[in-house]
Amino acid sequence: MSMQGPTKTLKPLPPHAPLTQYYGHGPDAERSRYVVDLFNKTARHYNTIEMLLLNGGLWYRRFCLRRAGLGPGMKVLDVAIGTAAVARGAVQLVGPEGRVYGVDPTPGMLDEAKKVFHGPLTRGVAEHLPFTDGHFDFVTMGIALRHVSDLVATFREYRRVLKPGGTMWILEGYTPESGFGRSLNRFMMGKVIPGMTLLFTRSRDAKLLMDFYWDTVEQSVPPEQILQTLTDVGFEKLQHRVVSPVCEYIAKRPANPA
Ligand SMILES: C[S@@+](CC[C@H](N)C(=O)[O-])C[C@H]1O[C@@H](n2cnc3c(N)ncnc32)[C@H](O)[C@@H]1O
Repeated sequence: MSMQGPTKTLKPLPPHAPLTQYYGHGPDAERSRYVVDLFNKTARHYNTIEMLLLNGGLWYRRFCLRRAGLGPGMKVLDVAIGTAAVARGAVQLVGPEGRVYGVDPTPGMLDEAKKVFHGPLTRGVAEHLPFTDGHFDFVTMGIALRHVSDLVATFREYRRVLKPGGTMWILEGYTPESGFGRSLNRFMMGKVIPGMTLLFTRSRDAKLLMDFYWDTVEQSVPPEQILQTLTDVGFEKLQHRVVSPVCEYIAKRPANPA
């Protein structure tokens, strides 16, 4: 086993089936460009969308981070920082002795983050993190796992930048595979929230962002596959909690690599 984790050969795993109605049939780079462009056009509306959910998401992110063990003095990397919905909670929890770093590929989102977050910000993607090995106590990611190109590369990067014994925490959109829960989510997240987004922002792009949100969640690989991939890249002590319409993944980089 190397510093990079287990060297087992794993096939790339996209987080969801292609959604060609949004970005066509081209190479994955076109999907990535589409995603960044969509977030760039809607960055100034993102907090309005968060407010439609009564900012409950901000409180919930902070609550989950505390429960996952984030505390004073820790060094955190928040990947896909967006408007700093996770990072703001992390800053409160690590206190003045700690440090929170943010990374995101979308310039408009980094501009929004700067308004409320005063830690270091870097432009970059989860799949190639611009940080040295073994640097962080915690790596966090809120509602963005569906936007990476490859879960294997992403989790390998998370493991690489974590200190031995460090914690990876992900909050992600979730829907049950079938039944009433799925129908309810489809109605709320696929119809009501996009409609309310259009009403409150008057932005067709912001509505499109929420349509895209639902379609990516609906097409996501199941949690079991995410948990298996975390194990395959060398994470341990996995935890998974569903509070529909979101779910949480927590995993540790082993403290003593074999
Ligand atoms: C829905 S926002 C989430 C923002 C924030 N983390 C939260 O909890 O609300 C998704 C973010 O993922 C970012 N993103 C898209 N592709 C990414 C990638 N490949 N790596 C890292 N971040 C990405 C977008 O720029 C956007 O800021």
